[in-house]
Amino acid sequence: MQIAEFKIEEWMNKYEASAKYDLTTTCISPLCINELPFSNDIFSVKLGYGEITGSERLKTAIQSLYTKKHAITVTHGAIGANQLIFLSLLEKGDEVISIVPTYQQHYSIPEALGCKVTLFFLKEENNWLPDLEELDKIITPKTKLLCLNNPNNPTGAVIPDIMLEKIVEIAQKNKVWILSDEVYRGLNLSGNPYSKSIADIYERGISVGSMSKTYSLPGLRVGWVAAEEGLINEINHQRQYNTISISTLDDYFSAIALENKDFIAKRNFKIMNERINILKNWLDNTPKVHCILPKGGTTALLKYNSDIPSGELCRTLQQKTGVALLPGETLEMEGYVRLGYCADNLEPALEKFGKFLASI
Ligand SMILES: Cc1ncc(COP(=O)(O)O)c(C=O)c1O
Repeated sequence: MQIAEFKIEEWMNKYEASAKYDLTTTCISPLCINELPFSNDIFSVKLGYGEITGSERLKTAIQSLYTKKHAITVTHGAIGANQLIFLSLLEKGDEVISIVPTYQQHYSIPEALGCKVTLFFLKEENNWLPDLEELDKIITPKTKLLCLNNPNNPTGAVIPDIMLEKIVEIAQKNKVWILSDEVYRGLNLSGNPYSKSIADIYERGISVGSMSKTYSLPGLRVGWVAAEEGLINEINHQRQYNTISISTLDDYFSAIALENKDFIAKRNFKIMNERINILKNWLDNTPKVHCILPKGGTTALLKYNSDIPSGELCRTLQQKTGVALLPGETLEMEGYVRLGYCADNLEPALEKFGKFLASI
């Protein structure tokens, strides 16, 4: 299968490891094993394949993140979840709408499968929220799937619950599935940290979650899909060919982390609040950039005031200062850069970036 280059991942593979100040990251300082409250029963975890679609203990912990009962399957990260959904749901010729900017899987895999993909761009003047009148015009009964990412990477926008319900109304009248990549769900900076999950409000809503972002455990490589039973059965049918089961250790640690999610949330909100204030102060004193402050998630999308292409800007910035940012060109958003504002060393990195901007 021919597939487009995954621009973000290619960029990060090339530049992230050598960065002195890594602002490309989307994770909040990953936890160490010894920060998790596990007990000696870890030594009796049997390293077999385990329960094939995820242990009952882990699925129960995942179910606690939702208000309605769902069928759940556990996957190799959200990246595995997204791929399995596309493989299960889509066929050549199907029409897909993907709200961008987003994680590239959400348009490049459907394109590679031969679907007709429409990119629906979020606009800064709408606070990076979808224009529902426009969305209503482009969704038709021929549309099979709408893909969105809420909270959004890279803009940090969070779709208000009432707006999500209106999106559901539009999808419902056209019988469209909605894949909502919710890997940053639980990281809202104000109000309820968990905005509504699509699976809890729509019968064709497919929720993708992960241990990587909200729970700071990307090294576990655990994600999941929560949806109605028929679709989960289809996904499990595909899943037999590429997963068998996830690691029993990953399953064990994920269950423990979700059972103790409050302490992880407390730690992460402390980091997020500290860092968003650093970002805000810096933006107030840096005239060459502007940005709509994130309402959730771990990233912000900055517009910079220069004609330099974003790739060149990021390469030169990293060469001269050691600060790594993700260029907008990797997100179909030329003229912008993505900044992981929860990164360690944010303050000195922004100081260097500010000086660099003043010099160009
Ligand atoms: C929106 C989104 N979806 C999926 C993923 C992949 O997450 P995971 O580490 O769970 O595979 C990422 C990673 O950055 C992401 O930002």
